Amino acid sequence: MSTAISPTAYNYKVVRQFAIMTVVWGILGMGIGVFIASQLVWPQLNLDLPWTSFGRLRPLHTNLVIFAFGGCALFATSYYVVQRTCQTRLISDAMAAFTFWGWQAVIVSALITLPMGYTTTKEYAELEWPIAILLAIVWVTYGLVFFGTIVKRKTKHIYVGNWFYGAFIVVTAMLHIVNHISLPVSLFKSYSAYAGATDAMIQWWYGHNAVGFFLTTGFLGMMYYFVPKQAERPIYSYRLSIVHFWALITLYIWAGPHHLHYTALPDWAQSLGMVMSIILLAPSWGGMINGMMTLSGAWHKLRTDPILRFLVVSLAFYGMSTFEGPMMAIKTVNSLSHYTDWTIGHVHAGALGWVAMISIGAVYHMIPKLYGRAQMHSVGLINAHFWLATIGTVLYIASMWVNGITQGLMWRAINDDGTLTYSFVEALQASHPGYIVRALGGAFFASGMLLMAYNVFRTVRAADATQAQDAAKIVVVGAH
Ligand code: HEM
Ligand code: HEM
Repeated sequence: MSTAISPTAYNYKVVRQFAIMTVVWGILGMGIGVFIASQLVWPQLNLDLPWTSFGRLRPLHTNLVIFAFGGCALFATSYYVVQRTCQTRLISDAMAAFTFWGWQAVIVSALITLPMGYTTTKEYAELEWPIAILLAIVWVTYGLVFFGTIVKRKTKHIYVGNWFYGAFIVVTAMLHIVNHISLPVSLFKSYSAYAGATDAMIQWWYGHNAVGFFLTTGFLGMMYYFVPKQAERPIYSYRLSIVHFWALITLYIWAGPHHLHYTALPDWAQSLGMVMSIILLAPSWGGMINGMMTLSGAWHKLRTDPILRFLVVSLAFYGMSTFEGPMMAIKTVNSLSHYTDWTIGHVHAGALGWVAMISIGAVYHMIPKLYGRAQMHSVGLINAHFWLATIGTVLYIASMWVNGITQGLMWRAINDDGTLTYSFVEALQASHPGYIVRALGGAFFASGMLLMAYNVFRTVRAADATQAQDAAKIVVVGAH
């Protein structure tokens, strides 16, 4: 993976833009996360306004953290990795710039329309048709830039990280386009082309694969580049990475029905989803082990390198959430966990522990290289960020496990005469302490992002100052 050509030959501008926006959207998306978590503690924070109500801000949170924060991290790292591993510049600067500005336009449109209440009502696919079309155009352009760059590569083989990024790009396009087929009735209202159980199945085929390909496969691409780079070790097993790739993409696509247990979906489809989800444990753990074992002989680096710690702990959370997911997919377990905070805990074990941690590690790795610095402004601040993020994630998921299991058990408790033992409000009251702990955990995580913003700002400013000094020297030398 060594760089044979000068870094100036790469298009780092678009990587820098996406990397900076990862931090900006991370702060906003997680800030809104903390706000809606606080609304569940203090309902007065809904402010009696439709725009600031939980129902409207929740999808804004999910769109900002997944597509704005996660999406920008994926764009930044994939453009960085594809150029460095193919040892060639992106195929087109103009198209890359279009993906940056187009993606920001999609996010800003979400920021405006979701609080106004415009929504398709399909989870993670809420954006109305004009924005969905813009997103599709940006995504296809992204695919052209990425695969075009692979085609003109100067290396013989295609590094495995690019396989994962490639699958993430292709499958996301397919999911987005199929799930958004709808009939527009006005500028901001459309109706899905599908109806009833078919609509639900298509939606959760999309929803689960948004998890599988957006929140997992793309980030595995990140893992396969940044873990070996930061550990300064080759990937543990290249052969395992290829088996991992094919097994993961073949299996994920079938698991969607585990979101629709005990619904009108045919029983065989639910069972198929359950079985495929259980099998999915194998490739998921194969990938985690491949990442972890890359540290063989380099474990001591964890003591001094907080960036490596971010990357390795993210793999631990990945392993944990991909153990929990298959368990929750078992119908009898799901009858307890579904509708409860257990699901929310599982989501954030993956989202905070895996997706956010690996992205943060990758951005810390890239920023000094993108701005020509030896390292980040402050390693101490990265360390503080690491602990805030880790403690925050643990507080979040532990409180949601307690809440989820409490809710599941209280809802199903039945008296001898067949009546419910607890009213819904009693279960809600029992959940209140957990909501306080979750909001606290979220505040920890989000405050870590503020430290990151400061650290990135100082690193970029120092880089600017050095460049300005260099430029001044050239002018002075030129004047003499
Ligand atoms: C400071 C960090 C965060 C906080 C405090 C937070 C808080 C919340 C809250 C309160 C909810 C609503 C839960 C409910 O309806 O009961 C939620 C939902 C969600 N959040 Fe976060 N979040 C954070 C970070 C993230 C990140 C980084 C991601 C993704 C990368 C994420 C993805 C999601 C998803 C997918 C849902 C919907 C879950 C579902 O429908 O089952 N969150 N979050
Ligand atoms: C082998 C891997 C995994 C399996 C089999 C799995 C399985 C499941 C199951 C059974 C549910 C609950 C469905 C329900 O009761 O409604 C669920 C929800 C969810 N999982 Fe996973 N999971 C896996 C990994 C992950 C990872 C790594 C992430 C995040 C990065 C994630 C994100 C989510 C989200 C966002 C939801 C909530 C969807 C919603 O209802 O809005 N999952 N998962």
